[in-house]
Amino acid sequence: FQATLTRLSSPSLFGNDINTVLLTAEYQTQNRFRFKLTDPKTQRFEVPHEHVGTFSGLAASNLKYKVDVQQNPFGIKVTRASNGKVLFDSTIGPLLYAEQFLQLSIKLPSSNIYGVGEHVHKQYRHDVQWKTWPMYSRDTAPSGNMDNLYGVQTFFLCLEDNTGASLGVFLMNSNAMEFALQPAPAVTYRTIGGILDFYVFLGDTPEQVVQEYVKFIGLPALPSYWTLGFHLSRYDYGSLDEVKAVVERNRAIELPYDVQYTDIDYMEARKDFTYDKVNFTDLPSFQTYMHDYGQKYIIILDAAISIEALADGSPYQAYERGQSKKVWVNESDGVTPLVGEVWPGRTVFPDFTNPDCTTWWVEECRIFYEQVPYDGIWIDMNEVANFVQGSSKGCEQNDLNYPPFTPHIVDRLLYSKTVCMDAVQKWGRQYDVHSLFGYSMTLSTQQSTFAGSGKYAGHWLGDNAATWDHIKWAIPGMLEFGLFGIPY
Ligand SMILES: *[C@@H]1O[C@H](CO)[C@@H](O)[C@H](O)[C@H]1NC(C)=O
Ligand SMILES: *[C@@H]1O[C@H](CO)[C@@H](O)[C@H](O)[C@H]1NC(C)=O
Repeated sequence: FQATLTRLSSPSLFGNDINTVLLTAEYQTQNRFRFKLTDPKTQRFEVPHEHVGTFSGLAASNLKYKVDVQQNPFGIKVTRASNGKVLFDSTIGPLLYAEQFLQLSIKLPSSNIYGVGEHVHKQYRHDVQWKTWPMYSRDTAPSGNMDNLYGVQTFFLCLEDNTGASLGVFLMNSNAMEFALQPAPAVTYRTIGGILDFYVFLGDTPEQVVQEYVKFIGLPALPSYWTLGFHLSRYDYGSLDEVKAVVERNRAIELPYDVQYTDIDYMEARKDFTYDKVNFTDLPSFQTYMHDYGQKYIIILDAAISIEALADGSPYQAYERGQSKKVWVNESDGVTPLVGEVWPGRTVFPDFTNPDCTTWWVEECRIFYEQVPYDGIWIDMNEVANFVQGSSKGCEQNDLNYPPFTPHIVDRLLYSKTVCMDAVQKWGRQYDVHSLFGYSMTLSTQQSTFAGSGKYAGHWLGDNAATWDHIKWAIPGMLEFGLFGIPY
């Protein structure tokens, strides 16, 4: 069903209110209800997720839920059909819908709330005492503060009662946002762009809710058997001789040990698709050296690409080929590649939302594999990380770089440690697509991997200092990524 909503007169919070909003509701399956709120006059950014829009348009039958829409003021309620329990109730607060500020609150049947990410906390169950969690992809090491971290996961699960009956809520939105909990119990999603596009999932158990959710977003890849083994990785071995000394030492004591990684120190001047011809001169035969003992080898690849020539003055081919294919993220003019600074110095940023970029990236992975064979790729710095604020030229003063409201993200500045918000990618403006960078790099990289690799990748919970805090954070982290359909 559809309904047109009209804004009630009230003072404007952040300006540019959208006075008419279209509600579109879909009874997608017996256990899945979707409703979205759009601007019928102007097309707003929507996440180009492959699983959106796959609904046939025919309402499912034998629904496990019932939906009621309240008028004046607007509110939407989803009730469990079997017992009449109200599961999702937005009448607890007003809907706010403006150009750069969208908010909806949901009263929930219990305080047993799990999920949303990426953050660290030592208890899996959320604290509902007025906690606000920012969500926006950010390259920052876990510190124990309420920081937004590397990824964005907007799904949570609520365990209704001790029978195990549960519901899940997913907001399909990639803009910078925050998720606030309060003791009602209720939660508020507050985002600064895109549309409000909610999915509500019902299950008799928490597991069933997660099954419904992953059926919708895509089932996780079945990992190769060897990837479930023990992995060893660190930055700064300094030379392949040192890596081999570590491998030999661990083989000698028969440590269970399946995979060795090399971080950016294997590269020449930290440039992707190169290797240090002095300290890592034997890297081309390292995979064979590992395979001889039934072990595997994984390389790191960073997102940013150096714009500088190699040390001997010869052209850096990976950059030159990408440059001729025009596959970089552009400045606000839509044509000038945005330049920032990452590990190798001055860099551009591949626009993984551009199909030509995927073609270039896959080809670079293949060319490098011909020189240095490897078994897997660890992709990094794809938040996307940039060591200068916005770009080497800074960022313009406008509503994208400085929106009227900024969620409680690290540094309270959207372009901090990343690119400007008015930068242009094929999928849209950085303001909208920022938190999709890692997702798009994953899709491009998957196309460069070989037989047996599944649809998606796994996820790394971040720089780990091997402290007790990191173990305590890792346990809820692993449980949460189970909820998010990323068990590996
Ligand atoms: C190469 O190894 C030498 C000797 O261990 C070390 O002094 C040097 O810093 C290394 N070079 C690089 C680029 O890491
Ligand atoms: C970036 O600019 C190049 C020209 O330098 C253009 O060919 C390309 O399509 C642009 N990409 C985007 C996403 O705007």
